[in-house]
Amino acid sequence: MATVTCFITLSLACLHVTALKSQLFTRLGDLSYSSEPPITYETFYFNQKIDHFGFLEDGTFKQRYLVADKHWQQPDGPILFYTGNEGDITWFCNNTGFMWEIAEDLGAMLVFAEHRYYGESLPFGQDSYSDSKHLNYLTSEQALADFAVLIQSLKSKMPESPVISVGGSYGGMLSAWLRMKYPNVVVGALAASAPIWQFPRMVGCGDFYKIVTQDFAKSGQNCAANIRSSWKAINNISSTASGLQWLSEEFSLCSPLKAKTDAVVFKSWLQETWVNLAMVDYPYEASFLQPLPAWPIQVVCKHLTFDSKVSDYDLLHGVSQAAKVYYNYTGSSSCLNTSQTATSSLGALGWTYQACTEMVMPMCTDGVQDMFEPEDWSFQAFSDECYGMFGIRPREDWAGTLYGGKDISSHSNIIFSNGGLDPWSSGGVTYNITDSLVSIMIPDGAHHLDLRYSTSLDPPSVRSARALELKYFQEWIEKAKTRSGQTGSENQL
Ligand SMILES: *[C@@H]1O[C@H](CO)[C@@H](O)[C@H](O)[C@H]1NC(C)=O
Ligand SMILES: *[C@@H]1O[C@H](CO)[C@@H](O)[C@H](O)[C@H]1NC(C)=O
Ligand SMILES: *[C@@H]1O[C@H](CO)[C@@H](O)[C@H](O)[C@H]1NC(C)=O
Ligand SMILES: *[C@@H]1O[C@H](CO)[C@@H](O)[C@H](O)[C@H]1NC(C)=O
Ligand SMILES: *[C@@H]1O[C@H](CO)[C@@H](O)[C@H](O)[C@H]1NC(C)=O
Repeated sequence: MATVTCFITLSLACLHVTALKSQLFTRLGDLSYSSEPPITYETFYFNQKIDHFGFLEDGTFKQRYLVADKHWQQPDGPILFYTGNEGDITWFCNNTGFMWEIAEDLGAMLVFAEHRYYGESLPFGQDSYSDSKHLNYLTSEQALADFAVLIQSLKSKMPESPVISVGGSYGGMLSAWLRMKYPNVVVGALAASAPIWQFPRMVGCGDFYKIVTQDFAKSGQNCAANIRSSWKAINNISSTASGLQWLSEEFSLCSPLKAKTDAVVFKSWLQETWVNLAMVDYPYEASFLQPLPAWPIQVVCKHLTFDSKVSDYDLLHGVSQAAKVYYNYTGSSSCLNTSQTATSSLGALGWTYQACTEMVMPMCTDGVQDMFEPEDWSFQAFSDECYGMFGIRPREDWAGTLYGGKDISSHSNIIFSNGGLDPWSSGGVTYNITDSLVSIMIPDGAHHLDLRYSTSLDPPSVRSARALELKYFQEWIEKAKTRSGQTGSENQL
């Protein structure tokens, strides 16, 4: 069986490509944290060129963006510009509490721009996903050009306002790349949990799953070891019809496993469950991919403390209890659905297309340094899957050529923040490259914890990360203002 690949979404999902069609992606639930303040914004639409890079296709589409200017200090208060990821922009807007919390301090206007092909920003309306011809304009380059053009347009009305880009996950990659490609448009960027190096030959393909495994290993005695043993136990028990039936009942599956191939889907669903838990291992009760308790991996691991002599049945009973922490924390789920791993929907198909074109992110496991079944990375197998789905093939090295790979020291004013618990830190910038390409590590942080609303349960490391991020923002804004004071209206063309 083929390649495992991983898809970022603000969260992300890792899955077997072969299971892609049925088992799409991360779904995101509402965040319902009680301290969350009410937010208000206005919605606007901007006419964007469908193709920024050729002149034959001259059509336009409406890009959605949200503006909150309650705290904006006229006429030159800064603009914090969220570079939208692969999903509905209102969801990212609602979940990026950090921006809402610092807007007043900075006298800043907040803008959240939707990424083309997601949410309402569809270049060809309902036909946008109909075939590869219509999908042809779904690239990060086009998305960055959308952001740059939109910012230039906003700035024509407020030329003295410095703009800082902010984003998390794929949106964090875009935030960093926006500063790299359009330094005339944004004075600096915060790239939170942005795996800009998760591309071929930049980091080890096994690093991601090693971090997932470490999270489980340190959250409970024998926890990672028992998950490592569970795959063989599943293989053994699923080898008979009665075993399949037992598994289906034990895990309260909505659709019973019938054939051995169902067991393959079942295993990749479990694997994705453990990965998702690693991304959302937050210090407080939260509802990001699913409603979960504080430090959910510790709760999961309470069910997986046995020593190695346990029977396959007892082991898998523990695994089912552990999985139900993720799928049934609220006690309201009637059965577990191996076709989904989180609650609401992102632009799943869009991200699959992006992974199948530019965003080639190799992933592999060895079962030794990680707790998963060994699986090599094969670009060829991945490429074949993509060809089967879209009739196009990925370009393995293009992202590295386009965005500089590890040779980015000529750029400036970018903060890369990463959580030590977040598997995506494997592809992140985790050391200081220069004085102005700064890495901020949050050892107790999962996936972009720093962008979330602050809470009384935040570990000190995320509090100081946010304070440092704010300090860099203030420095960039100061510098931009000094400069424009000297030269007249900087940034105006
Ligand atoms: C975001 O919040 C607004 C206002 O609270 C709400 O109307 C909207 O449904 C939310 N969007 C998502 C995707 O959760
Ligand atoms: C496989 O499962 C059977 C029960 O179905 C059990 O008796 C046996 O010990 C298991 N084999 C291994 C190698 O765990
Ligand atoms: C979920 O939890 C509730 C309450 O404990 C329980 O009644 C229900 O059977 C559980 N659902 C599953 C699928 O295990
Ligand atoms: C399982 O999830 C899939 C994909 O979201 C959905 O189409 C299907 O209806 C779900 N099945 C059940 C029984 O909820
Ligand atoms: C990078 O430099 C900043 C500023 O000196 C410092 O706060 C931060 O800890 C450094 N990051 C790493 C990963 O060493």
